[in-house]
Amino acid sequence: MRGFWLLPILTLLPALVAHADDRTALIRMVRQDCGSCHGMTLKGGLGTPLTAQALSEKPGESLVATILYGRPGTAMPAWKTILSESDAQWIVGHLQEGFPEERR
Ligand code: HEC
Repeated sequence: MRGFWLLPILTLLPALVAHADDRTALIRMVRQDCGSCHGMTLKGGLGTPLTAQALSEKPGESLVATILYGRPGTAMPAWKTILSESDAQWIVGHLQEGFPEERR
């Protein structure tokens, strides 16, 4: 009956891995998709800089809203079909502290 214990572990594993992958995917997405406008180093390009220096003093909630709904009249698109509110909150929290590098 040793296999009995293996089953719950095997069913849990993908959930744990998927969660870790999620953040890796999110970091990559911000560096690449957001970076295409905000600059690969997020220091600005077509979009404004997304560095800790630029964002740490700004209210997080309004930055989350900018990401989810975009800024009408500017090139900043809405991401609500791709990102959840908690994704956007995670991104803003990390941008305000200095965004992590992509792990390779
Ligand atoms: C097509 C170009 C483009 C893409 C792609 C883009 N942005 Fe933007 N973003 C802009 C522009 C332009 C602005 C400045 C809008 C303005 O003038 O107020 C902006 C503004 C912002 C702001 C507000 C900055 C501030 O100082 O108030 C945040 C936060 C932001 N973007 C995050 C993101 C994130 C996160 C992504 C990826 C999920 C992203 N952007 C993708 C063009 C883009």
